[in-house]
Amino acid sequence: MLLARFGRRIASETRIDSLLTIIAEEVRNILDADRCSVFLVDTEKNELWTKVALGVGEKVLRIPMGQGIAGFVSKTGSAVNIRDAYRDTRFMQDFDKITGYQTKTVLAVPLKDREGKALGIFEVLNKSKGAFNEEDEGFLRILATIAASSIENARLYENLRKSHLETIYRMAMVAEYRDQQDTASHLRRISKYTGLIGAELALALDLIEDLRYASPLHDIGKVAIPDSILLKPGKLTPDEYEEMKKHPIYGARMLEGAESRLLHLARNIALAHHEHWDGTGYPYGIQGEKIPLEARIVSVVDVFDALTTRRVYKGAWSVGDTFNYMLEQSGRLFDPSIIASFANCRPQIEELLQDETKALGGGLTS
Ligand code: C2E
Ligand code: SIN
Ligand code: SIN
Ligand code: FE
Repeated sequence: MLLARFGRRIASETRIDSLLTIIAEEVRNILDADRCSVFLVDTEKNELWTKVALGVGEKVLRIPMGQGIAGFVSKTGSAVNIRDAYRDTRFMQDFDKITGYQTKTVLAVPLKDREGKALGIFEVLNKSKGAFNEEDEGFLRILATIAASSIENARLYENLRKSHLETIYRMAMVAEYRDQQDTASHLRRISKYTGLIGAELALALDLIEDLRYASPLHDIGKVAIPDSILLKPGKLTPDEYEEMKKHPIYGARMLEGAESRLLHLARNIALAHHEHWDGTGYPYGIQGEKIPLEARIVSVVDVFDALTTRRVYKGAWSVGDTFNYMLEQSGRLFDPSIIASFANCRPQIEELLQDETKALGGGLTS
C-alpha cells in the first residue's frame, strides 16, 4: 500500500533534506498533483521558504509570514482547498510571474510540531484532473502529520548528534592538551587527513564522517602518561618508552564497550594505531589486515602529522622528506594501499597545510 511504503521510506531517513524530498515526491504521486512544495518557517527572517519545491526548478521561494495562501495556512493552522487560485484574494500571483506557471487548484495543510507550533506548510498545486477533493485533503493531513513528526525527529536527532560530536571533540582536546603546541589545529589536521584517505578509499560518507570524529581520539590514552615522560624534551629511556607504549591499552580501556559506532571505531583506533603492517608494532604486534582498517588509516595520518610538526622531542620535517619516508615505509610500517591513497591526496594535503599557515584557529569542520 502506498501509505505503508511512504511510512517505511521516511522512517529510515534521518537527514532533513532527503527526508523532505522523499515526502514531497510521495505526496505528489499519491495526490496526482503537478507541483508539491514544503514551506518551512524561518523564525529569524519571519518568512516561509521552500525547502523543497518539486516541479519549480532550482528556485527557492520566500513568502513573508502571514502573506499568500501559504502564509494564511501557517498563521491560522487551518487547511485550504482552492479551485481557482486567481479568484482567491489570498493568492500571491508573484510566484507564477517568477516561475512562469499557471496555478489553478491549491491544496495546503499546516505542518505542526507536537505542541501545535507551526513548522511550515505542505502545498500541492494543479491536480491532474479536476479539483482536490475531501479525500485528498484527508490524505494530505495524514501525510502532514507523519511528515511533521519526522521533521521534528530529524531535528532532534541532528541536535543530539551535534552535541555528541562536540563532546567527542572536547574529549580529544583534553587528551592532546598537554603535549601539543596547537591542539585545535593538530586535531583538525588528523581529522582532515583521515577524511581525505577515506574518500580516496571510497568509503561510505557516513563512515567517513564517523572516522573524521573518531580519529582525533587516537591518543586519548596519553592522559594516563605522567608529565615527566610525556613532556620530556629529549629522548626517552627504554623504561620510559615502555611506559609510553601503554597508551594504546589505556585508550582502549577508556573507550571499551562503547555502543556507538563512532566510539567503537575510536576504541579500535586507540588500541591499534601503533601496530605496523609487518607486525613489528605495539601493543600486540598484529599484522596486515588483522589490524582494523580504521587503525591502519590513522597510523599513516598520525605519523605524517608527527613528522611534519614540531614535538617537544623533535623538530618539524619538510613535507617532501616526510612523503619520501612514508613511501619508503609502505609495506613495512604502513598498509601499501593506504599509502597509495594518501600519496594521491598530496595536492590537497599541501594546500591544506598552506591554508593553515595563513589562517590559524577554528574547529573540526572548517
Ligand atoms: P607522537 O609524537 O604523536 O608520534 C607518533 C608517531 O610518529 C611515533 O610513534 C613514531 O611512529 C612517529 N614519529 C614521531 N617522531 C618521529 C621521528 O623523529 N622519526 C620517526 N622515524 N618517526 C617518528 P612512537 O615512536 O611509538 O611514539 C609514540 C609517542 O611516544 C609519541 O607520539 C610521543 O608522544 C612519545 N615519544 C616517542 N619518542 C619520544 C621521545 O624521544 N621523547 C619524548 N618526549 N616522547 C617520545
Ligand atoms: C501563495 O501562497 O499564495 C502562493 C503559493 C504558491 O504559488 O506556491
Ligand atoms: C564529511 O566530510 O564527510 C563530514 C563533514 C564534517 O565532518 O564536517
Ligand atoms: Fe599514539
